[in-house]
Order: sequence, then structure tokens, then C-alpha cells
Amino acid sequence: MSSPSMSAPERLGPPRGARIEVSDVYQYFASPGKEPVLAVDTTSLVIEPGEFVCFVGPSGCGKTTVLNQIAGLVKPTGGTVTLDGKTAKEGRPDVGYLLARDGLLPWRTALGNVMLPMELRGTPRAEAEHRAAGMLETVGLGKFLHSYPSQLSHGMRQRTALSRTLVVEPTTILMDEPFSALDAETRLRLQGVFLKLWEHHRSSVCFVTHDLSEAIVMADRILVFGARPGKIIADYRINLERPRNVLELQENDQYHHYFQEIWSVLRKELAAA
Ligand SMILES: Nc1ncnc2c1ncn2[C@@H]1O[C@H](COP(=O)(O)OP(=O)(O)O)[C@@H](O)[C@H]1O
Ligand SMILES: [Mg+2]
Repeated sequence: MSSPSMSAPERLGPPRGARIEVSDVYQYFASPGKEPVLAVDTTSLVIEPGEFVCFVGPSGCGKTTVLNQIAGLVKPTGGTVTLDGKTAKEGRPDVGYLLARDGLLPWRTALGNVMLPMELRGTPRAEAEHRAAGMLETVGLGKFLHSYPSQLSHGMRQRTALSRTLVVEPTTILMDEPFSALDAETRLRLQGVFLKLWEHHRSSVCFVTHDLSEAIVMADRILVFGARPGKIIADYRINLERPRNVLELQENDQYHHYFQEIWSVLRKELAAA
């Protein structure tokens, strides 16, 4: 990703993401000696190119399963998932996946970890190093290029993992509660960092979170999953102006309005789960 300077005038880039289409998907999981579990009931959704969509809903309602179907890691029992018209499959270089666990290699420095996906693609070493360093600079880790994961704080490790995901400029970014293990202040900071990068790059994003306020500050749309078996029960468009400032939004009336409206639905599902 060409690094937007943090002090440059803010602007939104043109959308570059893939169109993601999930059609009539359902998912059963078999477990030995038990009836198969219906994890996702018949579900359809479309994420338009460059759209930022958040999934919220109670634990166990199938959010990760749908994300894994989009990543091609789980094959739906029924229905189809396509990215720009092509059936979702594992290992696509244009799809980035970021989890709550950073998954960094402990024997590589921050720079080495961010270089890894480019090395796997055969990017010349000097170019990989240049891009990795630029990306780490962008997320505020310019002084920690040569630190090992064990020498970095939790938030710094997650920023490194974010850099590793974004450095190869995926047009689809899948994130499963990526900031959930961070303290509140670090989480706000990282939301801001990621939003800035996304506003520049405009990939299609599917972002799972437990945190409704996080969903509202980031998303164009919020899909609420109902208690098991998982199914989308509500679809909210978040018309907050972009570019957004995560800290300022905490005091924005419209933001609080969205929170109350969506929370009234989400609360019932959490209670039912
Ligand atoms: N590989 C699997 N094998 C069996 N059951 C699974 C598997 N993955 C998920 N499940 C079950 O499917 C349901 C949905 O899980 P998941 O998609 O992880 O929910 P969420 O991410 O919303 O918490 C849960 O009941 C979970 O236990
Ligand atoms: Mg999950």
C-alpha cells in the first residue's frame, strides 16, 4: 500500500475493493455422536466494492463462519460465495485476513514479519524491505523496525500484524475482532490508524466486532446477526461523514443516535443467546 502521509490533506480514495456476494448460504457442522449443528441459517448479503461492512451479534451466531466462507476456508453446506464473480477459495493473494491473535513469527523482527507475505510472492528483497518499512512507519512503528515481537507491546504487535495484512494491498480485507484484545485507548488509536489507511485504499472490508461503538465509527453498513442459528436480522447504513475522526465521533449526536437505535435490536439478541 502506498503510504498516505498522516499529515497530508485528508481525502477519500476511489473504491478499489472486490464485490462480495453471499447467496443463500447455510452451514452445518458435524460433530461425532451428535446431530449436526446449524451454525448459519440461510443468509445472503452483498458487500459493494470499497464498502466497509461490520458484523455484530452474540457469540456463536455464525459471524466467524461467514467470514471463513468469504475467505474460502469453510465451504458452505449450501449456497454460494463469490468475490468479483469468482467462487471464494483459500489462499487468494488479493484477500487479507486479520485475527485478534497477531500470529507474528517470534524469530522475525517487525520488519521481517511485514516482509514475509512479499517474500512469499517473490517480491525483490529491496522493494519488500522498502514497502514494509514504509508501512510500519505509517502505523507509527518507524522506530521499531528491528524489534522482535517479544519486545513490543500488545498494541504494537497488532499494528505489525495489521501492516503485514495491508502491505500487499488486498482488495478484500477480512477482520475477526482484530482489536478486541487491546485496551480501550489502544483500540481507539488503532481504529483511527486503520480507518485512515482504508479511506486512502478503499478495499472492501468485512469486519467482525463485539463492540457496537467500534462498528459505528468504522462502518458504512452494520449487519446484525441474530441468536443461533445465525442469520442476519437487520442491516443499518451509517451515514456519518467521511473522513471520520474516531475521537471526535465519541461526542457526535448522530453517532449516539445510531448507537441507541442499533443497541435496542442487538440487546434483545444478546439476551436471547
Ligand atoms: N469447525 C467447527 N466445527 C463445529 N462447530 C463449529 C465449527 N465452527 C463453528 N462452529 C459452531 O458454529 C456456531 C457459530 O460459530 P462462529 O461462526 O464461530 O460464531 P461467532 O463468530 O458469531 O461467535 C457455534 O455454535 C460454533 O460452536
Ligand atoms: Mg467469532
